[in-house]
Amino acid sequence: MSSPRYAAIAGWGMAVPRRVVTNDELAQRLDTSDEWIRTRTGIAQRHVAGPDEFTSVLAARAGREALERAGMAPEAVDTVIVATCTPDRPFPATACTVQAALGMPRAGAFDLAAACSGFVYGLSVGSALVQSGMSRSVLLIAADIFTHLIDWNDRNTCVLFGDGAGAVVLRASEQPLGLLSSNIGAWGEGETLMAVDAGGTLLPATPALLEERRQYVYMNGREIFKHAVRGMCESSERAVADAGLTMDDVALVVPHQANVRIIEAVAKRLELPMERFFVNLDRYGNTSAASVPIALYEAVQQGRVHAGDHVLLTAFGGGLTWGSALIRWGA
Ligand code: UT7
Repeated sequence: MSSPRYAAIAGWGMAVPRRVVTNDELAQRLDTSDEWIRTRTGIAQRHVAGPDEFTSVLAARAGREALERAGMAPEAVDTVIVATCTPDRPFPATACTVQAALGMPRAGAFDLAAACSGFVYGLSVGSALVQSGMSRSVLLIAADIFTHLIDWNDRNTCVLFGDGAGAVVLRASEQPLGLLSSNIGAWGEGETLMAVDAGGTLLPATPALLEERRQYVYMNGREIFKHAVRGMCESSERAVADAGLTMDDVALVVPHQANVRIIEAVAKRLELPMERFFVNLDRYGNTSAASVPIALYEAVQQGRVHAGDHVLLTAFGGGLTWGSALIRWGA
């Protein structure tokens, strides 16, 4: 049997925790304000996971919805990928927990760590599995409980992030649908521009390190901002060109939702109007790997994406990592 040429997006799902935390709520216990957060980031609120809403729980919810929408039985899934930098445990992979939770006995399962770029990385890997013929179908889930890594006393970071999960089903197709081109990139020299230092093999968590709050994320916001704009623009241009298209052919850009000012800077540099960008970070904040699939989900639900549309996904995150994917919508 010859390999299918394409991996269509046959289903999509999302999940966010119950609890909503507004900027005003943060301002009650931190030296910040709704005005500062809105004007510097565009964020108004975020969802924050409770103790029963760990990564595999949100991942399974999003994955189940994506399978239902695709009309696919869990037993038919060949591979499940969970893109996350906040797994349930150091090991085994959260994808294994999801494999059991959704009842996908045939599925190979692995996690993929590319921080906020995780979904775009996963879309490249998952589509390649389908296009090579190694998997007929892939359930790709991006899920992060990023607030687990947050120091709620650090106003530089805690106002920016929220929790969530998004998922897509990739299914073999002979129609020119799904991923048409993609590229992924990284710059390891920038690893400490945004990182969590303690808790791995480099610095195993000790009481002293916990006391110093080294289990939490730190970040050089201004530097990340500059790299994000450059990384997303260059990789977007490449993805569009590699698909044999121009920016005029792109119906909608679904960018990583970190800061509306980053998205505005990308729009300006790509010479595209903001109307062509989907933005929902006002309600979710930066949900790390989940940000792009949650935005894609809402764009579809709101009728912003139509069959046959070319949609550009672009992301940037810790690592540093980045990537873009040009997809053609339709199941
Ligand atoms: O997925 C990738 C993850 N990371 C990112 O995307 C982050 C990218 N960077 C950004 O989004 C922006 O750089 C931030 C939103 C993090 C910061 O915005 P900025 O315009 O670059 O502000 P800044 O870092 O230059 O800080 C301006 C001021 C500082 O005070 P001083 O030194 O000027 O007196 C900060 O201390 O704002 C202060 N500040 C705050 N004030 C009120 C920082 N955080 C807050 C806060 N509330 N939450």
